[in-house]
Parts: sequence; structure tokens; C-alpha cells
Amino acid sequence: MVNTSQFKFDKQQTMRCGLQVRNAFVLAPLDLQLSLFDGTVSRNDLWFHQQHSQTVGLDIVGSAYVNVCASTASGSISVANDDTIAGLHQLAQRIHQQGARAILQLSHAGQRAYVDYRYRTAMGPSPTATSVAMNRFEIQQVINDFGRATKRAIQAGFDGVELQGANRFLLQQFMSPYTNHRQDEFGGSLVHRVRVPIQIVQRVQQVVAHTAQRPFAVGYRLSPEERQPGGLRLIDTLVLAHLLEALQIDYLSLSLHQYHQPAVTGYTVSPVIQIFHDQLKTLPLMVAGGIRNQRDLLTLAEESEWVALGKPMIFNPDWPKDRRCDIEQMQLMTSPEDLGISPTYVRQLLHKGGVVK
Ligand SMILES: Cc1cc2nc3c(=O)[nH]c(=O)nc-3n(C[C@H](O)[C@H](O)[C@H](O)COP(=O)(O)O)c2cc1C
Repeated sequence: MVNTSQFKFDKQQTMRCGLQVRNAFVLAPLDLQLSLFDGTVSRNDLWFHQQHSQTVGLDIVGSAYVNVCASTASGSISVANDDTIAGLHQLAQRIHQQGARAILQLSHAGQRAYVDYRYRTAMGPSPTATSVAMNRFEIQQVINDFGRATKRAIQAGFDGVELQGANRFLLQQFMSPYTNHRQDEFGGSLVHRVRVPIQIVQRVQQVVAHTAQRPFAVGYRLSPEERQPGGLRLIDTLVLAHLLEALQIDYLSLSLHQYHQPAVTGYTVSPVIQIFHDQLKTLPLMVAGGIRNQRDLLTLAEESEWVALGKPMIFNPDWPKDRRCDIEQMQLMTSPEDLGISPTYVRQLLHKGGVVK
């Protein structure tokens, strides 16, 4: 157990919207595909979040799809219609009972959506071998879907929503010249490519302003750059980040492989997190990626307001207290079933590596 007294991330936080959070540790969004076949919250979802929200300040429920063509995988959580509200309400309650705040990540997998090809087709900004391009009407529908999903999250008792603009999901597909080849007002120059993400944020904020009777947070998650030639550059996401700062969202979450990774498409090779920190004066940052011990937290303390943890939390829900994640500890830990995840999945995650440091 480490001495945690007076450490920045242990202190109570107040978000711009007024939401009070007991500490700055975050269960990163994790799509563990535990839901029922139609995306309804399952007992396994409830159990997993009960086990994993006991020490963090924020629990971000990962990848809730906003319409039936937006799902990441079979077993992802749905917020695509009003029937989902009852289950989501139970989930938010379960998280609140552990003293954490509940954020619902709203997502659309776009070109990469998991759809039943007999009935539907995946859709994105431009066609691919397995998806078609959205027309203007369909884009408008998606913007509305994010608005409706936000209303459901509010009705279900969540404390906020996070827009999934990272990990090559739809919002990133619109941002990236690699996946967006449109020639209308939604493609081409950066001014056009940011339009869908920004209009979605604005719609979500409108819904919050009209519907939420309590502090309700709006966050945005992005992947700062793509490595392939012709992909998203750091300058593109910095412009988006400045626009999000002007819109006064509550936090910007950076999805990284390694929290201190150097920029590869920028004007400097400084760590990405440092560049964002230097550029954004008022927008609180959250960061995830390879945070494994107290030393990592000390490195991050200057640059980030929130610390998000994925794999360390999956294996050790007490991580914010003891801050260790090593093989010996995992072997001693509660069984996968008790953690609410399947042993096969645990093995897969361990073999993917990146957990130990
Ligand atoms: C099993 C699993 C599921 C994930 N699901 C999501 C997701 O639904 N949404 C998302 O934005 N990121 C997702 N991620 C990425 C994590 O939020 C996090 O950024 C990543 O695991 C790096 O942090 P870590 O090194 O602490 O694990 C997932 C990661 C894992 C391992």
C-alpha cells in the first residue's frame, strides 16, 4: 500500500458542470461484451461495475451504441431505444452505490460496426469494402441519435456522457482524411471534417441544457493521431480540441497506447500529453494508456487532471489504492468469475500483453 496522502489524484474534484467526484481515478471505458444479445444491461454488466467502481471517482461505461447500426460487437451495451433505460438505470444505481459517478460512453462504430448483414449495412463517411457512405439525411439522423441517447442517459440516472471520438470509431472516421473522402460540407478540408463531431457535441449540449435538472458532464474521447500516411495528424486533433474547449465541455480524454508516447505527426516529438496540456488552458485532460504504478502517476501529475485505467483495473479493482499491477499479484487475485469476466477473456487480455510493467 502506498502513502496516498495529499496526492493530486486522490483529492475530490469538481467538474465544470458542478459534478463533484470523490477522486480523479477513472475506470476507462471498457467494452467487455457482457450485455444481452440486444444490448440490454445484463447481470454480468451489473456485477462487473459493482466490483470495479469501489475505489474510482468515475466509472465510464464503455461503448454504448446509439443506434442499431452503430454497435461494436455482439454483447456491447445499447442505448439505442427507450427499452434500454430500465437496465441502464440499474447500472447507474449500482455504480452510485459504490460511491462513484457514472458516465455513459456514447459510441457509433461507423464503417467498423458489427451488423447483421442480412438486414443492415455498416455506414461511415465514405464507402469501404464492407460499408456504404452515409447521405446527408443519415448524418442528420446520427446527430439526432446522439441527442436521444443523451436524453436516455439522463433519464437512466447517469452523471454524464462521453462521446467516443477515438479508436477509429465514426467520429474519428469523419475527422480522418484516411477514412473520409467526401466532397461535400462533411469532407475535404479540416473545417468540413470537424463538422460532424462538433455538431454532435452541440446537440448533446442542447439536450443536457433542456433536460438535465442536475449537474451533468459532457466529455469527449479522441485518439490524437493516426500513424499511417494520409491519416489524422496531431494538428487536426489539436484544432478539434480547441473547438471543444471553446464549447466548454467538461473534459477531453486522450486514448493513448502509452501515456507518455511521443508525437509522430506533430511539429515536435514531445509527448502528446504535454503538447495538449501546453495548448489547452482551460480544458481538463484525462489520459489512459500504460499507467501501471505510482511513478507513472507522478509523471502525469503535471499534465493531466484525470487518470483513466483499463487493464490494471480489470485485473485489480483496488488499483487506485495499492497502485500495483504485476503478474504475481494477478495470480493471487480474485477469480475471473468473481471479477465478472470470463476466464478465456482474461487469458486473451493477458496474452495481448501491456498489462505488466
Ligand atoms: C477489453 C477492452 C475493452 C475496451 N473497450 C473500450 C471502449 O469501449 N471504449 C474506449 O474508448 N476504449 C476502450 N478500450 C481502451 C481502454 O479504455 C484504454 O484506453 C486502454 O485499455 C489503455 O489503457 P490501459 O493501458 O490502462 O489498459 C478497451 C480496452 C480493453 C482492454
